[in-house]
Amino acid sequence: MKVACMCSGRGSNMKSILEAKAAGRIPGAEFRGLICDEEGAGALETAAAFGLPSVTVPFRDFKGDRPAFEGRVLEALRGFGTELVVLAGFQRVLGKTVLGAYPGKVMNIHPALLPSFPGHQVWAKETGYGVKIAGATVHFVDEGVDSGPIILQGAVPVLETDGPDELSARILAVEHRIFPVAVDWVTSGRVTLEGRVSRLKGFGPSEAQAEAVLIWPPLTA
Ligand code: GAR
Repeated sequence: MKVACMCSGRGSNMKSILEAKAAGRIPGAEFRGLICDEEGAGALETAAAFGLPSVTVPFRDFKGDRPAFEGRVLEALRGFGTELVVLAGFQRVLGKTVLGAYPGKVMNIHPALLPSFPGHQVWAKETGYGVKIAGATVHFVDEGVDSGPIILQGAVPVLETDGPDELSARILAVEHRIFPVAVDWVTSGRVTLEGRVSRLKGFGPSEAQAEAVLIWPPLTA
């Protein structure tokens, strides 16, 4: 499956995916290019280091004209022959122009256990709210904000001493573990949808797995 990544910033999630590809862990994906909406973003350097071509479509050049911005993004996606779009730290909400061209074929990573804490600045919201378990979610993108079908989630504890920076670092480590796996599942055809519920082929009920549980703070605290 031909994949294009979209990033806005440092691109550490894209790097984790490209490293997994280089290590043979995503055999079903052919990475064709990066589309970046910010000039000078770290993700552009990362793409170059992996020999991945990139196109920069600076959002600010479009002076708020979202359909025009998305039209240019779509052109770049088509230029890469894209079949699957992977939003790896892309900080804009995509609308009909791109989503209509790629229905069910856009994936995103979000640094919270959705449906809690969609949107921006989630680490401050999580520490401010006082949740004890946080995490990351890989999901398909629909026309809402972080509301599409969930593919994979990973959880981490929130420590007493955590501020937004400490929590975001702990969550990022989980993002780097789960996103490459989810991209592998989707590009190898293992993920299907029943309504908004995603199903993973070959993953049946297992008591051992069902017993895995994270309770935080530990009951021995
Ligand atoms: C990641 O934490 C990702 O989950 C988040 O931005 C960061 C990008 O880091 N994404 C969103 O907030 C999407 N709305 P990265 O550029 O190092 O991958």
